[in-house]
Amino acid sequence: MIGEKIRGAMNDQIKHELESFYIYLSMVAYFHEEGLDGMAHWMRCQAHEEMIHAMKFFDHIIDRGGIVTLQDLKQLKTKWKTPLEAWQDAYEHEKFVTGKINNLTKISREENDYTSEPILSWFLNEQIEEEKNTEKVARELALVGNSKEGILILDRELGTRIFPAGSPLDPAAYNVVA
Ligand SMILES: [Fe+2]
Ligand SMILES: [Fe+2]
Repeated sequence: MIGEKIRGAMNDQIKHELESFYIYLSMVAYFHEEGLDGMAHWMRCQAHEEMIHAMKFFDHIIDRGGIVTLQDLKQLKTKWKTPLEAWQDAYEHEKFVTGKINNLTKISREENDYTSEPILSWFLNEQIEEEKNTEKVARELALVGNSKEGILILDRELGTRIFPAGSPLDPAAYNVVA
């Protein structure tokens, strides 16, 4: 049985992960609007990952006999002035999420909740990747500055990210051509 303190914090984390999904989905719309389909594609893959993150906590609580109560999602930013601003926001958001995972780890230790260790260490590792990826693109965009050529090269590169199998965010999954 999961303890109430860690259950509550993990229940909050479901909201943070779903808000991540929602932010990145807004970025998908923004990048398409800007004609940056590669960046939009990358963010679709990322939004998919965020749903998985939410579901990992969702199932963890249920598997340990706890109750999940979904919360309202915050109204989020939907427009950005430049692609650089969007990627900087993504990086800042991932640092915020890392702080939340660190706090969950702190609570689990205070509560002697050793059962949470595997899932939380998975998330601690995952956050290294998330911060690294978003920071890298933000840094590269800052480097190319106003160069349209540079932005397009980066867009093409980000468009090569592989969709997780069966993703509902992959247009190929729902645009079935007869
Ligand atoms: Fe996440
Ligand atoms: Fe990831």
